[in-house]
Amino acid sequence: MFLFALASIALLAGEFTTYAFAKPRTAVRTIVQFPNGTWLENIAVRSNGHLLVTLLGVPEIWTVDPTTSTKGLVARLPGMNGIFGLDELAPDVFAVAAGNFTLASATTLPGSYSVWRLDAKTNVTTKVVDVPTASILNGLTTLDAAKGDVLASDSTLGTVLKINAYTGANKVVIADAAFAPPEDGLQLGVNGIRLTKDKKTLYFNNFGRSIFGRIPLAADGTPSGPTVILAHDIGQVDDFALSACGSFAYDAVNPQNQLLKIALKDGETTVIAGALDSALIPGATAVAIGRTARDKDIAYVVTGGGQAAPVNGTYVEGGKVVAVSGRW
Ligand SMILES: *[C@@H]1O[C@H](CO)[C@@H](O)[C@H](O)[C@H]1NC(C)=O
Ligand SMILES: *[C@@H]1O[C@H](CO)[C@@H](O)[C@H](O)[C@H]1NC(C)=O
Ligand SMILES: *[C@@H]1O[C@H](CO)[C@@H](O)[C@H](O)[C@H]1NC(C)=O
Ligand SMILES: *[C@@H]1O[C@H](CO)[C@@H](O)[C@H](O)[C@H]1NC(C)=O
Repeated sequence: MFLFALASIALLAGEFTTYAFAKPRTAVRTIVQFPNGTWLENIAVRSNGHLLVTLLGVPEIWTVDPTTSTKGLVARLPGMNGIFGLDELAPDVFAVAAGNFTLASATTLPGSYSVWRLDAKTNVTTKVVDVPTASILNGLTTLDAAKGDVLASDSTLGTVLKINAYTGANKVVIADAAFAPPEDGLQLGVNGIRLTKDKKTLYFNNFGRSIFGRIPLAADGTPSGPTVILAHDIGQVDDFALSACGSFAYDAVNPQNQLLKIALKDGETTVIAGALDSALIPGATAVAIGRTARDKDIAYVVTGGGQAAPVNGTYVEGGKVVAVSGRW
């Protein structure tokens, strides 16, 4: 209604026409909401369109059907209290990072992290390997699906590890100043990491340094050129998704309760949903783009409900899965 009103005024006033129509038009819909106190941490999409969502505070993976707005528990992993990033390795086989993280103090337990595989057809989980050298395993992206190699970000040590999700072989492949936590404040640096389709460029963000950038990679996951910072001062960025066309990143800004669109060409950044004082996507943690014809233009955002930074200093709610659609 608001946009239509703007458009009518624009027709009368002339000079505002371009401005009115250039504003992003978004529609936002909550698909499912979990009980108050639930922190949704990350999200991936299955080829059938169902969403897989991981939780912190409890070691659970849930499935969400966005067409029926229903959810169900898929797996609960033993011996830890939270689940972080996940990505598809083979059709319906996902690599998953898990470990002990205390939400109340935002502190990780170094040495408690492991990598698992989830078969989304059977809900069977298999522990692949403990990664005692990691301080945290946060974002996760598939490097070589055939071999089973994934990359995982260690936000505290400021590194990226290559981990084989079948054999468990693992080592640090990236250690770069742009990935390190900031000098002061919460010791969380590199957070989301996503590889392009050709696997030659790794996009990353850094929560504490409020930056988004890229680094070219060789086939073995090691850098093949210098890091480029594309955007600065964009807020405390949590995990993100790359668009299928390869032109944009959609990034969740956790304490600012926003969804950003970042142009990969030049880093131009716009807010497409949410605001610091808004309960639309409080404590947004991660984003995934729909994979079916029906929802390929939908960004699914998961939230922690504002637990880390209550909206207006007071408002907290249960984590939710929100569909943001529109002409971005
Ligand atoms: C996997 O979990 C979902 C959600 O609880 C359930 O609907 C589905 O039937 C389970 N699949 C199998 C094979 O157990
Ligand atoms: C990690 O958390 C789990 C579940 O809360 C607990 O059983 C386990 O002992 C913790 N691990 C360590 C190393 O503290
Ligand atoms: C936060 O405060 C602003 C300004 O008073 C208000 O408009 C907004 O609705 C509040 N948000 C929530 C989630 O309560
Ligand atoms: C969620 O729980 C917190 C802490 O108990 C409480 O302050 C808040 O009012 C609750 N939020 C809602 C939406 O019920």
